[in-house]
Amino acid sequence: MLASGGGSNLQALVDHFAQLGDARAGDIVLVAADRPGAGALDRARRAGIETALVASKRSPDGRDLAELLAEHRVELVVLAGYLQLVPGSVTRHYAGRLLNVHPALLPDFGGPGMYGARVHRAVLAAGATSSGPSVHFVDDVYDHGPVIDRWPVPVRRGDDEHSLAARVLLAEHLLYPRVVQAVAAGDVRLTADGRVDPPFVLDRRALPPLDPELADAQIA
Ligand code: GRF
Repeated sequence: MLASGGGSNLQALVDHFAQLGDARAGDIVLVAADRPGAGALDRARRAGIETALVASKRSPDGRDLAELLAEHRVELVVLAGYLQLVPGSVTRHYAGRLLNVHPALLPDFGGPGMYGARVHRAVLAAGATSSGPSVHFVDDVYDHGPVIDRWPVPVRRGDDEHSLAARVLLAEHLLYPRVVQAVAAGDVRLTADGRVDPPFVLDRRALPPLDPELADAQIA
């Protein structure tokens, strides 16, 4: 998994895999970040997962991403709040095996510079009535690859970027680990012509009781 921030999605995946036990489709073999202070690295260490730094402006001593992935024999790359553009050589090598979660309903509110609070501010400024996470295969354009699933949550009157971000994150933590499991298991694939096949269907019966914040959300 590649991250730049706190790593709450990493935690959600660690917890989901622990819950699945032997039914999990893979193991998290590496958590790499582009800055030494990323909370995701602490969470990984606490979970006993190997960590590494990817070379970036903030970590000039870090390693080359392609080399790291090869060294750890990574089969599926999961981005969670990773702020560096993944080089084209890596996106091509991992086509169909590289996932991202974006905190808005793509194709809207995505693209270069659309990350963190900026996304939620843009959603609020546009007067959108719903937002929510989108999980997609990554290609070499920011937030552009085929969408696997989205989970719309309501934008409420009086929301600010913080309250909206918190609601979107709740849905993210439920959706992303389940998509990762499905792709890792080979249940969902990216076809050569760029389709998601078969369509991912979130099993609502397998979800934990929904947080009241999501209770009136529709699941796509
Ligand atoms: C999430 O909001 C995700 O949608 C975005 O970056 C954030 C990562 O959060 N891509 P965390 O580091 O997993 O807590």
